[in-house]
Amino acid sequence: MQKIDSILIENRIFEPDETFRLKANISFADYEEMCEQAQNDYEGFWGNLARMHLDWDQPFTRVLNEDKAPFYRWFEDGKINVSFNCLDRHLHELSDKPAIIFESDEGTVTSVTYAELHRQVCIFANGLKSLGLVSSDRVIIYMPMSIEVIVAMQACARIGLIHSVVFGGFSAKSLSERIADARAKLVITADEGMRGGRAIPLKSTCDEALTHAEVESVERVIVYRRTGGNCQFNAPRDIWWDDVIASQSPVCEAIALDAEHPLYILYTSGSTGKPKGVQHSSAGYLLGAILSMQWTFDYKPDDVFWCTADVGWVTGHTYVAYGPLAVGATQVMFEGTPTWPHSGRFWEMISRHRVTVFYTAPTAIRSLIKLGPDLPLTYDLKSLRLIGTVGEPINPEAWMWYYNKVGGGRCPVVDTWWQTETGSHMIAPLPGAISTKPGSCTRPLPGIMADVVNEKGQSVEDGSGGMLVIKRPFPSQLRTLWNDPERFCHVYFPKNFGGRWYLAGDSAHRDSDGYFWIMGRIDDVLNVSGHRLGTMEIESALVAHPFVAEAAVVGREHEIKGESIVAFVVLKGKMPDEAEADKMAIELSCWVTEQIGSIARPDEIRFGENLPKTRSGKIMRRLLRSIARREDIQSDISTLENPQILAQLSRASGNTIV
Ligand code: PRX
Repeated sequence: MQKIDSILIENRIFEPDETFRLKANISFADYEEMCEQAQNDYEGFWGNLARMHLDWDQPFTRVLNEDKAPFYRWFEDGKINVSFNCLDRHLHELSDKPAIIFESDEGTVTSVTYAELHRQVCIFANGLKSLGLVSSDRVIIYMPMSIEVIVAMQACARIGLIHSVVFGGFSAKSLSERIADARAKLVITADEGMRGGRAIPLKSTCDEALTHAEVESVERVIVYRRTGGNCQFNAPRDIWWDDVIASQSPVCEAIALDAEHPLYILYTSGSTGKPKGVQHSSAGYLLGAILSMQWTFDYKPDDVFWCTADVGWVTGHTYVAYGPLAVGATQVMFEGTPTWPHSGRFWEMISRHRVTVFYTAPTAIRSLIKLGPDLPLTYDLKSLRLIGTVGEPINPEAWMWYYNKVGGGRCPVVDTWWQTETGSHMIAPLPGAISTKPGSCTRPLPGIMADVVNEKGQSVEDGSGGMLVIKRPFPSQLRTLWNDPERFCHVYFPKNFGGRWYLAGDSAHRDSDGYFWIMGRIDDVLNVSGHRLGTMEIESALVAHPFVAEAAVVGREHEIKGESIVAFVVLKGKMPDEAEADKMAIELSCWVTEQIGSIARPDEIRFGENLPKTRSGKIMRRLLRSIARREDIQSDISTLENPQILAQLSRASGNTIV
């Protein structure tokens, strides 16, 4: 192990621990055999898994329909209910098993068994029916982490409503855009959420969102009372959660739905200003969730599983709301933040709830290293047997710390690469089978035909970078973009690859052992603290400000967040002096928070009289990236219309123009 200028180069390979390997669900031989089965009989491979892991109301006879590629259909003549698969099918054996152990921000612990969760879901689903909602209606869920948010999602799935969860940190404007795009009839929210000791005014944000002109579809708003804090209540539109469930029957049959019935829409950022409504199916999606619980997380019935993601993101959908329940796991769910009321909160919770499998984001790991590199050692973390990461590349330094200080050098680290669009893990080490290398997400899961290709679609040589693609459809992939099937085709299945390969939007390389290393996005999407943000989205928010004429946003490496946001802004009036610029920068960052949410707040705003442009008027982002990173500009600037602008934009940080 070498350390150069605080960047750790770690070339060791970590073999699966012997005790772990002997008990693992999937051995190396199993892994190889499954990969071979998938190669030889792709549909047979997936069909068998779907029959083995899912309970069907009506069995399917056709595994994959590619007739309308890339609108692939899996198990299409089968009928299934996701909520039945997450709850009812466990009731004869697991009814008294805790399904969710919920810890609130303040530390109050509430737990529900499978029988109790099933009862609550049935009651709430009946409540939804009593409001007149019918299969395929859309429901926006804007709630804090709580048992109730799972009840809401599962109740939708039970009666065929399509939910779209919006992260509680999004602004009224972002919420209204999602409500309008989904044409939702119902919003489910809470009076307030609590995070890090602070109340988050969910209901008032929701009220503001509903005043936007484009939101006409919403008929009712259900309000869950989380804090009892002050909020407006606009009867008859608004209705308390408790009134929705009052006197409802605890019997509610799970409807047999088409395998392809949309389970949910989840909005995510793309390279244009408009978020994409990623639409997932029922059966294929759930199959991906279950297999990855079994394969990557090596799920065992006595596990206590904890994924720290919020249900507003895909990780919280697959590894909080659906995957753990579908396999009958006991899971911990947390409302708060890792650093409140102290920076040992995660470690304390692992110890308190005897967590065995822990899954979090590199950004959380990096911030916790900063706050207490030896803190995990002061807690009893011996219950852990597997630890995972998701959302962004993990630097070897953070990987090694996680492995040694949290995993005690005995727990495999599973670095899982996947996306909102893929629904579940695509490339990740199966912990009893695949040795790990810090910083690599290792090898594709069985049946996932991932490759790294050049512009012409040829596989690149080992060690060379290229675009990450998946060459065969897989059950858990998105089915379309809500309201935008054309965008779905051209973004994910570009014509230059025959319109059939899934283009992930990431660059990667593969080493001589067949291990994948993700290098970052190839589009204008940033990854800030593991959250995806389109540069165009932030630019559109900035230019919506009355004083802004033009804006360009780029990413800059950040020690904790992975990437931070740097905005270049041209104001409509004259160039601000230093004091005006400081004031304006604060004003604009608050503005972006209002427009999108605090996750999109720029870390730095630079003002110029113009932006660097080519003679045809195209902004030269590569130069802006160099300026943001305080690098010398080495590249060719001969096509630049206005080279003097570089000096102006660079001045504050003293970049030299070569
Ligand atoms: O760039 C990749 C990065 O996160 C993107 C997907 O973001 P999102 O849809 O929000 O889903 C995040 C949670 C699944 C990818 O295109 N990413 C995700 N996981 C990893 C990663 N980059 C490197 N390593 C990972 N393990």
